[in-house]
Amino acid sequence: MTHELTPSDRFLRSCRGEPVDRPPVWLMRQAGRYLPEYRRVRGDGDFLAMCQDVERAVEVTLQPLDLVGAEAAILFSDIFVPIPGMGVDVKFQPGPKIADPIRSLEQVQGLRAPDPRESVPYVFEILRVLRRELASRQIPLLGFSGAPFTLAAYLVEGQGSAHFGTLKRMMYRAPEVLRALQARLTDLVVSYLGAQIEAGAQAVQLFDTWAGLLGPAEYREWVLPAHREIAAKLDRKRAPLILYVKGGAHVVDAMLESGADVVSLDWRVDLAAAARAADGRASLQGNLDPCALAAPAQEIERRVREMVAAAAPARGHIVNLGHGCMPDTPVEGVLAFTAAVRALGEASP
Ligand code: CP3
Repeated sequence: MTHELTPSDRFLRSCRGEPVDRPPVWLMRQAGRYLPEYRRVRGDGDFLAMCQDVERAVEVTLQPLDLVGAEAAILFSDIFVPIPGMGVDVKFQPGPKIADPIRSLEQVQGLRAPDPRESVPYVFEILRVLRRELASRQIPLLGFSGAPFTLAAYLVEGQGSAHFGTLKRMMYRAPEVLRALQARLTDLVVSYLGAQIEAGAQAVQLFDTWAGLLGPAEYREWVLPAHREIAAKLDRKRAPLILYVKGGAHVVDAMLESGADVVSLDWRVDLAAAARAADGRASLQGNLDPCALAAPAQEIERRVREMVAAAAPARGHIVNLGHGCMPDTPVEGVLAFTAAVRALGEASP
């Protein structure tokens, strides 16, 4: 009875909490090393060079649509791509490594405030090409950015870390440095996402992977204001904003106060409780444990049905993982995951 929605309509309606026939599905890090086809295009060259190569970036962005049934395309890039434009030396090994970590106010004041359209023009060219390629298939195109706190975490720590102790000590010992750094990064994120929307991104996701390291009070002080500023400054009528935090079960209420259209949760969050707490303020995205894709197909199907039922009280739901696909994620598991979501539409008349 419900006439068939295009993937773009289904996705954007879900972001805004409008009725849909069934939820859409995509996966964080859906273009990645678990796909042999990605590894072939990737080779063993420089990762940043691949992000700058329009042809290869477009190719790997599109791979998961046909190979694993993803129903949204996310720009192939990395959250650290716009950072060298600030004058920071970043290498990928394969995670970001900062040559000269930021520890002083002088370093923050020395950062450039680039116009991303000039410092990373290829990002917008990739988006424009993708938008043309996707038009006939009506697949939505997503842009993204790292959030100020997570970008600051690597810039201060110098690289990934389990607890980001250097960063957290800076919060207590030199809060003015971290505040100044986050202010610079917030400006960058606003202009970067704004330019992605200009170039054709139909929704944008803000990755605040490490913000869950903070307690609820510290999150409200150090993270929420930046999210609110970004949500307020973007044209969310044109492109809804999705906010992702890893390990954020204790800050879901604050995520819901950010103004984001969609709150993206990891697997530790009780989806049913979050759906009730959202109370119509935001749609939800997530939240299967990426490791669950190692389960037999039937078990993945069961978990997809459970997840979708749990999210039902929310105004909208986008099926996704609680974090990214990993290099050892089985392709069959990803296929079972997307097929299970499509089957939901077929089951109900
Ligand atoms: O989701 C997608 O498919 C789009 C592409 C994308 C990448 N990184 C490609 C990538 C996105 C959205 C990101 C975001 C990102 N990058 C985050 C936030 C989300 C998250 O995963 O928590 C963070 C914290 C980073 C920083 C980063 N980049 C790390 C920690 C690593 C190493 C981890 C790993 O998987 O090895 C990277 C490198 C990276 N970014 C790879 C890819 C495909 C692997 C590099 C390679 O192919 O050699």
